[in-house]
Amino acid sequence: MLEKFTFKKKNEGSATSLFTKEDIINEQVPRHIAIIMDGNGRWAKNRGLPRVAGHREGMQVIRRIVRLANELGVEVLSLYAFSTENWKRPPKEVEFLLKLPQMFLTTFLPELIEQNVQVRTMGETSALPAHTINAVEEAIEKTKDNDGLVLNFALNYGSRYEIMTAAKRIAEDIKLGTLNEVDIDEEKFNEYMMTSYLPDPDLLIRTSGEIRLSNFMLWQLAYSEFWFTDVLWPDFGEEQFVEAICEYQQRGRRFGGV
Ligand code: FPP
Repeated sequence: MLEKFTFKKKNEGSATSLFTKEDIINEQVPRHIAIIMDGNGRWAKNRGLPRVAGHREGMQVIRRIVRLANELGVEVLSLYAFSTENWKRPPKEVEFLLKLPQMFLTTFLPELIEQNVQVRTMGETSALPAHTINAVEEAIEKTKDNDGLVLNFALNYGSRYEIMTAAKRIAEDIKLGTLNEVDIDEEKFNEYMMTSYLPDPDLLIRTSGEIRLSNFMLWQLAYSEFWFTDVLWPDFGEEQFVEAICEYQQRGRRFGGV
């Protein structure tokens, strides 16, 4: 990985500061980083390539960011890989997007295991093709005893669906008598979310210049810091990732307090 990163530090005008890996690790590193990896299609179009070429390149970026996140001590990396809305794309693109987990894991599972990464998913994965399910289930199984970075792929994930499903399950449990309505608070509600075992994201990154959440982790991002960049996901690199973390480290988080 890069040992030094150069970029403009906030409130330092035109001055640039050089950050080392130690500078970053010595400050508060976000425990959980969520990323909306956007701009693959535009990246490909800019090069006269089919959209899927952008997705393939985007997959390579994941490999580099996972390694760096793990090295920096990030505990969880949640990646928006396929949303409940992505089914609206042309069938050939959907098919390709759903092949990516298998392609990624076939190539990189050995190094994820070696890096002590734990692969996880969130989303309605049962609706995915068998080859996608098999690939992620194998990765989950083979990394289940690791205790390094949790690499959480959002696959067929939609936040409204997640919240609605939690509400339905709560209603069922009340009906069954296993849950008492008076015991429902935020902590209890969170137990019904797909991320119940994870801390909330501290930092959300979205690439490609779009400033919206697109139905991603609406519940979990309530108090997260947001960082947006115009860089398209296939061009996103270690430098931007570190820039986002350093900017996060300069923010004052108050969680509604003073
Ligand atoms: C959004 O860009 C990106 C996606 C819908 C897919 C993201 C997927 C990857 C980066 C690879 C996933 C890899 C694994 C291993 C699961 P877009 O296509 O909407 O880009 P555009 O806005 O420029 O058209």
